[in-house]
Amino acid sequence: MAELLGGHSLAARIFEHIDNKTTDLGDACWSEPVKNYRSESRLEEELERGFRQRAIPFCPSVALPEPGSYVAREAGGTPLLAIRGRDGNARVFRNACRHRGAQVASGTGRQSAFACRYHGWTYGLDGSLKTVPHEHGFPQIIKEKCGLVPVNAAEQGGFVFVTQMPPEPVADLPDIPELLRDGLQLLTVNEQVINANWKVLAESFIEGYHIRSTHRDTFYPVQYDNLNVVEYFGRNSRVTYPFRNIEKLRNKVPTKAEMEGALTHVYHLFPNIMIATFPHRIVMVALEAVSVSKTRQTTYVMSDPQTLGQDPEREKQATDFVDAGNAEDREVVESIQRGLKSGANEFFEFGLFEGAIVHFHKNLQAILEGGE
Ligand code: FES
Ligand SMILES: [Fe+2]
Repeated sequence: MAELLGGHSLAARIFEHIDNKTTDLGDACWSEPVKNYRSESRLEEELERGFRQRAIPFCPSVALPEPGSYVAREAGGTPLLAIRGRDGNARVFRNACRHRGAQVASGTGRQSAFACRYHGWTYGLDGSLKTVPHEHGFPQIIKEKCGLVPVNAAEQGGFVFVTQMPPEPVADLPDIPELLRDGLQLLTVNEQVINANWKVLAESFIEGYHIRSTHRDTFYPVQYDNLNVVEYFGRNSRVTYPFRNIEKLRNKVPTKAEMEGALTHVYHLFPNIMIATFPHRIVMVALEAVSVSKTRQTTYVMSDPQTLGQDPEREKQATDFVDAGNAEDREVVESIQRGLKSGANEFFEFGLFEGAIVHFHKNLQAILEGGE
């Protein structure tokens, strides 16, 4: 299992950086060609090799709390539908009716069956085709062969993983820590389309070099500028953003809860999933390319029901705080996207403070070049 710093050693590393005014440094810089953010053929390769051929978290398990719960969204350019079955298993299907291809569900919710809106073909929670209105009009079809088409799905670490290209066995799920613990509750799911390439957006989550400049009145007053612990596990990374209130944990062995209240972790699960931890909240973000210049960001906000509602005022402040920071990031990434067309840069230069981004591009390049 992935080796990441535990509470005590993580706190020690952070205090060392605070005292020395330093941050974790990457071991190399990286020049990424700007054309890689604009090329349709490059995006198609990224989706094929980086997304569809890999096991990637599709949604948190808690987004499917009971039989009939479902999540429909696109992943790697494919419309998919995850459903919790009556047997408790999560299954994932290609979200296209077997008659003429309309989607049989959208968004999230709970249903006892999935009726296609176009002509009403209806599927069970296990994907099987149950009813065809006026069935005598289809003497040629064998209903048993016309269920929704499944993709490989497996649950681990609080996620429903999907692999679109068979056969990737369950054993090949990425080695990631238990990020979404049992007992979490899904609070909200929201979706926004952002006018930026998916990689520009991904990059904005995994460096703390922009905190003072971009988040002057939001994150910067409570966090440090350019002070991060950056760790790698497989193709993934974890960037730790300490809060200034971590000072009160100096000279003591912090408990897990104390550490959680004193920092944000952003886990980047290669290539397009971010898990961000906040006091009282854990968030899963899925970034899906709509085109080279548009990305759909789906955000699943979860909380521990035991602490939920204890301090509504503080919870609202926490949500507003994160939303304000997100809006600032959005402005910047959309401005980068406009800048791509300026012709000013042939390459984007990532420096030693941007090690997690370098790791991301290195791994993406390795995959596109055929490495596993
Ligand atoms: S396309 Fe679904 S019932 Fe016709
Ligand atoms: Fe940011």
